[in-house]
Amino acid sequence: MSEANPPENAEHTVEIDDGRAWTPVCRYQDLLPGRGVAVLVGPQDEQVAVFRERGGAVHALANRDPFSGAHVISRGLLGSRGSVPVVISPMLKQAFDLRTGRCLDEDHAPDGATAHLRVWPVRVVAATLAEVC
Ligand code: FES
Repeated sequence: MSEANPPENAEHTVEIDDGRAWTPVCRYQDLLPGRGVAVLVGPQDEQVAVFRERGGAVHALANRDPFSGAHVISRGLLGSRGSVPVVISPMLKQAFDLRTGRCLDEDHAPDGATAHLRVWPVRVVAATLAEVC
């Protein structure tokens, strides 16, 4: 899930639905276009990679690379395969669809599991103004 570019001149917060509630994970302004960050989500502290596309859309996917088992997806580079926005794993360079988590290069990981990153519902909301006095 994703949201198009919010205005740069207002504070916005990125929230992930961890299955119980929408939970703030970082400031939208802290996401660099074309790059990702790793955050912890939910009661199990699951690692989630949050990305901001250059066009502004935000995506949240599992941070664990099913091919290497390493938690490195957040360090992958964004790009595209045809019209599909992808993140390229920094380990073995497989491409994953940012919208669905599906691996475009291989169907299965070495352990036989489906080569698929869990996609987390993500949204960008106006930050709540803090009391200043
Ligand atoms: S653009 Fe500000 S909350 Fe969506």
